[in-house]
Formats: sequence, C-alpha cells, structure tokens
Amino acid sequence: MEDNSKGIEKVYHFLNDAQTYYLATVDGTKPRVRPFGTILLYDGKLYIQTGKVKDVSRQISANPFVEICAFMNGSWIRIAAELVDDDNHDAKVAMLEKMPSLKQMYSADDDNTQVLYLKNATATISSFTAEPEVITF
Ligand SMILES: Cc1cc2nc3c(=O)[nH]c(=O)nc-3n(C[C@H](O)[C@H](O)[C@H](O)COP(=O)(O)O)c2cc1C
Repeated sequence: MEDNSKGIEKVYHFLNDAQTYYLATVDGTKPRVRPFGTILLYDGKLYIQTGKVKDVSRQISANPFVEICAFMNGSWIRIAAELVDDDNHDAKVAMLEKMPSLKQMYSADDDNTQVLYLKNATATISSFTAEPEVITF
C-alpha cells in the first residue's frame, strides 16, 4: 500500500497514458460499459467528465458505484469507486483546459457539463508478471 498522494498520482498517470479507459455503471439490474478518456487530477481528487444528458450520467446519479478498467503496456488497472458529482466551476474549467477538445461540445457554464470525482476508490494494477498492486484513495 502506498501513501495516498503518490497512489492517486500513479492511477492518474496510468489512465492519462492509456488515453482510453472503460467506465462501467449499473443500470437497474444491468451492467453498462463504454469508453471514456477524460481524466484530471485536481485539488487532490481524480475527476472524469461527462454530459448530464447522457444515459451514463443518469445511471451514476441513480447508483454512484462504478468500475473503471484500462490496459496499457502489458498492465491493466481496475478501479472500484463511487463517483461524486461536483458542481465546482473551477474544476469544470480545469477539466476543459486540460482537455481542450471538449470545448467543441462543452463549456463550464452550460447546463450539461458534469465533472465527477472518485471517492472510496480501490485501484488494482495487475500484470501476468508481477504481484497486483492495490492503491486506495
Ligand atoms: C475514446 C473515447 C473516449 C470517450 N470519452 C468520453 C468521456 O470522457 N466522457 C463522455 O461523456 N463520453 C466519452 N466518450 C463517448 C461515450 O463513450 C459515449 O457518449 C457513450 O455512449 C456514453 O455512454 P451512454 O450511452 O451509456 O450514456 C468517449 C468515446 C470514445 C470513443
């Protein structure tokens, strides 16, 4: 187990370098999964971004428990967490500044842009050649 700030940074770098991760939500009794790419370390918290009009957003507000999975360079990460909707304007601005292509579709002042951070997260980084590494934050 690592200290929390180093651990969350490692998880951030994994997802950022992988560029694409898969976000699984719960829709009633059914799992739903889709590719995501937004990732931001801001104010010590790990944020993702979506649009409130999307099904994924509706699912998270009904049930905030999610899993995230990504694969890169022979290692994979699985993160089980709760997502917290954060209406913080500065966090939305920081997300759009970090990922400027989002500005084609979103602005920090629209009614759609949503940033959420991971809470009570357990991330496990695995490979076929090393012991799994568990990081909580
Ligand atoms: C590589 C890639 C990255 C994506 N990243 C995001 C993202 O960070 N946030 C988002 O809301 N949608 C993102 N999308 C689009 C979602 O996958 C898409 O809107 C999906 O349908 C949302 O899930 P839903 O249909 O259950 O609402 C991305 C798509 C691709 C192909």
